[in-house]
Amino acid sequence: MSEKFDVVIFGSCIVDFISYVPRLPKVGETLHGTKFVTGFGGKGANQCIAAARLGSRTAIIGKLGNDPWGKSYRDALRQEGVNVDRVDLIEGESTGIAQINVANNGDNQIVIVVGANNCLKPVDVQASSQLLGTAKVLICQLETPLEATIEALKSFSGISIMNAAPALENIPQDLLKYATIFCVNETEAALITDLQVETIMQAKAALLKLQNMGCGTVIITLGEKGAIFATKSEAKIIHVKPCQVERVVDTTGAGDAFIGALAHFIAGNPSAELLQCIAAANKVAAMSVQKPGTQTSFPRFQETGLPRDVSLYQSEWEYI
Ligand code: RIB
Repeated sequence: MSEKFDVVIFGSCIVDFISYVPRLPKVGETLHGTKFVTGFGGKGANQCIAAARLGSRTAIIGKLGNDPWGKSYRDALRQEGVNVDRVDLIEGESTGIAQINVANNGDNQIVIVVGANNCLKPVDVQASSQLLGTAKVLICQLETPLEATIEALKSFSGISIMNAAPALENIPQDLLKYATIFCVNETEAALITDLQVETIMQAKAALLKLQNMGCGTVIITLGEKGAIFATKSEAKIIHVKPCQVERVVDTTGAGDAFIGALAHFIAGNPSAELLQCIAAANKVAAMSVQKPGTQTSFPRFQETGLPRDVSLYQSEWEYI
């Protein structure tokens, strides 16, 4: 294989069944929705598309069912310029699906049945060694089996981003220690650390606990409050301020837009500070919440207004 990649995703591909509702339903309640659409999703593939739209050379290692959804999903990834040589269609397994409700205020709730994604095994890491060997950044999530994910992190020699979503209560130590960057949102940080994470100062406490648990560099995304991070080598914790958002339409996939964009900016700007990459990724995520859908809401680089050299991007931040 002579092709080289900026960003490789080892992770999930899921088809989203999205209902738009006035508000999220209560337990036992039936609500009338206003619209239904299907879309291509799954945290792994979403992150891949976010990076590809911004101009990264991307590949995904994943599993789909050998069903009409699987075939059309693989074609769609190809059309976005993603290398799908290591995306298999599995006989007898259904493509992963997500049932998503999106409320008028942009909030969502998601249930996933991962189906074929469960067939991603450690052997797929070995079979993709050439592809992984060319990549600058690897991204993993938690919608595919843990054993395979740990194997991918262990074997990768570039910068790896572990997006521990959806979160696990008893997270294996290897997921923390083999990732270069461990990235979670406030809900995931709370579940993993068993701390309350609602304010920036509570997020700081969770970040320190994650580093005590074995993580190196940690990023906690905080939605409309921006993000906080600390690198492995420096004791300082930085709060990156959020971007202005006129109207939140749909938050589904905003975290994936952030992670894919972060990987893109890290891969393309080796001399840029992590702070600038996070700030630029914040902008991409802020753009995505202002449009409906998951992948449909991710911008192309020209739409972002960001400078090619991300180190020139002026961000607002503070030590906390
Ligand atoms: O992060 C959003 C994604 O979560 C959706 O696309 C859905 O497929 C679930 O994986």
